[in-house]
Amino acid sequence: MISNHQADVVCDSDKLIEHALRAAMDSALSPAAPAHLRGALDAAVFPGGSRMRPKLCLKVSYVCGERHPELATRAAAAIELLHCASLVHDDLPCFDNAALRRGRPTVHRLFGEPIAVLAGDALIVMAFKYLSLQAALTPELGARMIEVVAEAVGPSHGLIAGQSMEAMTHVPIDRYHHYKTGSLFVAAATCGALASDVDPAPWSKVGELLGHAYQIADDIADTVGRAEVLGKLPAVDTQLKRPSIVRGEGLDSAAARFYAYLEQIGDTVPASPHKRSFVNWLNHALCKGVAGPGKAGLIQQAALDCAPL
Ligand code: IPE
Ligand code: IPE
Ligand code: MG
Ligand code: MG
Repeated sequence: MISNHQADVVCDSDKLIEHALRAAMDSALSPAAPAHLRGALDAAVFPGGSRMRPKLCLKVSYVCGERHPELATRAAAAIELLHCASLVHDDLPCFDNAALRRGRPTVHRLFGEPIAVLAGDALIVMAFKYLSLQAALTPELGARMIEVVAEAVGPSHGLIAGQSMEAMTHVPIDRYHHYKTGSLFVAAATCGALASDVDPAPWSKVGELLGHAYQIADDIADTVGRAEVLGKLPAVDTQLKRPSIVRGEGLDSAAARFYAYLEQIGDTVPASPHKRSFVNWLNHALCKGVAGPGKAGLIQQAALDCAPL
């Protein structure tokens, strides 16, 4: 049950995220920016999807005491911009060749492939600019957060590394999921903790576990979901022979692993007066809001034989 106060916090942080994303766009785009590029950037970021990563960053910051809220907000927005960039690039013909994203035609379908490539590039630059302007005010902490975010998208164990693994013949699925999806969740949770001067280690683990659960939910949705519910076309993993938990282990095993990760997350969140509400929020967000209300039903349907939450 969400209290009025908690509902206000949820609502405020949702507004804060949209406001910060708009501010990041405005600060990067002068009137001199070419109109079609501006249009592509806008389409890539608004309206949003789950906004799960920035929400996680702000929630962790809140739970940990919010010492540097402006830095947490900047990190949250930067991470969401990087996520949006990754989706624009992921949808390109050279990756998943997707026509639909968040219920609308993908950026390259709307603006053409060259502009979509450049829009993704621009979002990456914008993300680091927006974070670094605030990070400069507390240089030591700021530099650490920039490093965390950079690592999360980087070629070693970040999102770029994960996407590159699709070119491998044998893909270790957990590592692939961790790199391509978990890394941004790790960054979001870590930055939330760092922005509150709290040890980020357990929160990094929470982000890692969450990343696994989130990508498993996405793999399940790709198998049994419908475009009207997901806002993107399903069955891509099968068509493109992408590594997927469902393709590798079947639906029941995927659902069981999803619930096991949720349980592990509950055990990993550090004890605090806010632990219960944080874990409730996470369970709710994962089961009801991963990619719209429909995905929850899909997972629950797939998990009929598994222990309920
Ligand atoms: C999609 O993430 C890509 C995955 C890693 C599963 P989301 O499902 O969070 O995408 P949006 O932001 O809601 O569109
Ligand atoms: C997207 O993975 C992950 C990244 C963009 C790094 P998927 O290709 O599985 O995600 P969807 O299903 O297109 O959202
Ligand atoms: Mg992909
Ligand atoms: Mg894709």
